[in-house]
Amino acid sequence: MTTSSSGTIVKARGISKTFSGVKVLNKVDFDISGGEVHALIGENGAGKSTLVKIISGVYLPSEGAITVDGEESRFRDPHSARETGIALIHQEPLTFQDLNVTENLYLGHTRGGGKLRINWADLHKKTDTLLESLEVGMRSRDPVRGMSIADQQMIEIASALSQNARVIIMDEPTAALSQGEVKTLFAMIRRLKEQGKAIVFIGHRLEEILEISDRITVLRDGNLVGECPGDATPDTLVHMMINRSINELIVKETAEIGEVMLETRGLSYPGKYENISIKVRRGEIVGMAGLVGAGRSEVASAIFGTQPALSGEVFIKGKKVNVKSPIQVMRRGVAMVSEDRARTGLITAFSIKFNMTFAILGSIAGKLGFIKNKKENELVDTYAKNLNVRMRASDQAVRELSGGNQQKVVIAKWLLTESDILILDEPTRGIDVGAKMEVYRLINELAKQGKAILMVSSELPEILQLSDRVYVMCDGHITAEFTRGELDGNKIMAAASMVRHRSAV
Ligand SMILES: Nc1ncnc2c1ncn2[C@@H]1O[C@H](COP(=O)(O)OP(=O)(O)O)[C@@H](O)[C@H]1O
Ligand SMILES: [Mg+2]
Repeated sequence: MTTSSSGTIVKARGISKTFSGVKVLNKVDFDISGGEVHALIGENGAGKSTLVKIISGVYLPSEGAITVDGEESRFRDPHSARETGIALIHQEPLTFQDLNVTENLYLGHTRGGGKLRINWADLHKKTDTLLESLEVGMRSRDPVRGMSIADQQMIEIASALSQNARVIIMDEPTAALSQGEVKTLFAMIRRLKEQGKAIVFIGHRLEEILEISDRITVLRDGNLVGECPGDATPDTLVHMMINRSINELIVKETAEIGEVMLETRGLSYPGKYENISIKVRRGEIVGMAGLVGAGRSEVASAIFGTQPALSGEVFIKGKKVNVKSPIQVMRRGVAMVSEDRARTGLITAFSIKFNMTFAILGSIAGKLGFIKNKKENELVDTYAKNLNVRMRASDQAVRELSGGNQQKVVIAKWLLTESDILILDEPTRGIDVGAKMEVYRLINELAKQGKAILMVSSELPEILQLSDRVYVMCDGHITAEFTRGELDGNKIMAAASMVRHRSAV
């Protein structure tokens, strides 16, 4: 048999790992081939990071063997894995802020050649050639300080390639990226694949996984559940990850529906949305369905005051509010969990406790302005427990948490404000299935407590299962409204994809 760039490069067999007596990986097999994107998925704690750390030399396996090009390898450290062409790209890039791109690229492997003088002009030239071939818009002499996480990830990828990496492992690379940055990363992954590189992609967002992968391996509680092709259905993947289907996860509970808490009349922002009139009642979950770009998030921002509408009216608890800023709207009891939580919702250098409570410091402060520490701790512990935030302690910095857990912290922060009206914009985007269940349970619970909930979601099962009423938006207009009894996935999709014609009238 002949070997080519598209054959199997790495074969991991029967890999087990035990940390202080706890087995976190149990006889897992995993293959990596050139020219393919192999996704690794599973809930938080399933063992994904541990497996790729073993493959890339960070940890030694407790049992099992790894072969590279058919030869058994026992990596002592990440450096020896890199020498055989295996590179792990960190989720939080390990770049040196005070250095430029070239220096970051070659820092790792110029030291080895101790006696040699470094020819920087030459390295800058090599770097620029590499950056050009990768089609990334940065130059060798650009300082790293101030670059986005996405650009710093590109530097890590470029660094791996400059060391002739053939296997590039990315552990949750999209967790901190915007949608536009994810597109850029995916374009890069596709180019690497065409060059015959092997990519291992760990992620949570099923739509991303299905878009980029050729093959998907699922882990559950440290065990290999199985492998499926890149065109599997989301339901198959969810089933493999948690052993249940999406619809079974979402149970609607009945809440008593009361008076109108939030109402808009004819909200318009030409070019974004037009004539949006909606109502949300006490105890009611109102879904806003539609395709990405239909204008739903813009309407949510208009109500919350992040970007007010140009015309139309907003009524909060029956009173007309001339919406100007989020603070003014928050004071009237409205909270919003925005879509881009990673960017706008958190101060990641600060503690979990700080992030959860800084929106409500006023209400838990004592008469003299001291924060009642005991009350604060109790609240944080309760919410962290309810949302199952995986953390060491509540004074741990948010940036040390995984993406899904960071998002739970943002949600907890808003829940803690005890607002009567909640606007949730894609509340489960980017979190794993277990965390989704917890969020669904909370949404039900909040409705039962009498909160009015407006939920923007692109996930049809979520809309269908949770909503009491649904508005569908398409191209900036409300194209349909359904009560719970009338809900039907096909009707919603039809209303969400109506063609552009209304504005011509
Ligand atoms: N260095 C470590 N020491 C002890 N336990 C660990 C260590 N790394 C991971 N674990 C545990 O191993 C399990 C799998 O973790 P991990 O591989 O990070 O999962 P995933 O990446 O799928 O979320 C978890 O229960 C985690 O707490
Ligand atoms: Mg992980």
